Amino acid sequence: MSDIQNNKKIIFSGIQPTNTPHLGNYLGALKNWVAMQEEYDCIYSVVDLHAITVRQDPSKLKKQIVETYSLLLAMGINPEKTILFVQGHNPRHAELAWVLSCYTQFGELSRMVQFKDKSEKHSENINAGLFTYPVLQAADILLYNADYVPVGADQKQHLELSRDIATRFNGVHGDIFTLPEAYIIQATSKIMSLSEPTKKMSKSDEKPHASISVLDERDVIIKKFKRSVTDSLAEISYDENNIEKAGINNLLSIYSAVTNKTIDEAVSEFSGKGYGDFKLAVGEAVADMFKPVQDEYARIIADKKFLANCMQDGAERAMKISGRTLRNVYKKVGFLEF
Ligand code: TYM
Repeated sequence: MSDIQNNKKIIFSGIQPTNTPHLGNYLGALKNWVAMQEEYDCIYSVVDLHAITVRQDPSKLKKQIVETYSLLLAMGINPEKTILFVQGHNPRHAELAWVLSCYTQFGELSRMVQFKDKSEKHSENINAGLFTYPVLQAADILLYNADYVPVGADQKQHLELSRDIATRFNGVHGDIFTLPEAYIIQATSKIMSLSEPTKKMSKSDEKPHASISVLDERDVIIKKFKRSVTDSLAEISYDENNIEKAGINNLLSIYSAVTNKTIDEAVSEFSGKGYGDFKLAVGEAVADMFKPVQDEYARIIADKKFLANCMQDGAERAMKISGRTLRNVYKKVGFLEF
């Protein structure tokens, strides 16, 4: 795909390079990114501009941008077909975000749950970027007129705001933007922390056993699952209304997604067995799933020339499409052509 010009629906999504992607990112979003390439024209981005809303160590950030980009390739994003680029390589994102910020209400941004959570967590640095973050996210999506946006449940509110901003802009200036829809796979939309199963698995969790990184070694993965918090009911069954069972529910969701078995099949597979056996099986299944990704990652990260070419090509293709949208937006709002 040198450009997007056929009738396929367009997919856009992004991931922050704030740490190594984890099992929640993979099952909630990245696995779908790979699968959707079959049917759609896909555009994916490593969203480095978003990452600096929380203070980052510059040399670490640089490394993580390359790591995240390489991991996406290792998971199966095909750069010949899909546009895979680093957000900071395309200035259109920041440019459209400014225009859209003038079509976004203060009150709307104040209601964003993620802003409230992050303000609490980083009370020493509640910067304006953290507040306007969802406007940049709307710009990411609207620049490419994406139809669907594959994400986990935590991004639903941001997606709704993107639609509201697009609707408001279209209402003033005519049909410029496609209204994007969140594409959420319910069963894996919220993978929980292994040490506090009522909280989602998160890249910023400081507890070492709370999340499984895509690059964790096999024995580390198994050890983390063995230590995962469950309950004293000693019964492998799924009950989403029972908060006590949050740990087992989470492990069953993970096992089912990784092995492609239904929850019922997983439950009967382990009937009569103890939590220890079950945890080991989940750990082994996850380690088996990540092994080929890890091997492919080692190969790709060593090939600097290939990576540089992919990033360059991805950025050029992204810029071409988004440039057209931005020119159109500038014209509609009344800016003089340069
Ligand atoms: P980020 O980098 O936090 O997460 C990347 C993707 O992983 C999903 N995810 C999860 N899914 C299931 N269970 C979990 N525990 C879990 N944790 C994270 C996220 O929902 C996301 O899909 N704001 C976005 C990045 C972004 C973006 C965009 C996304 C920027 N621009 C435009 C879509 C479209 C974020 O911080 O994702």
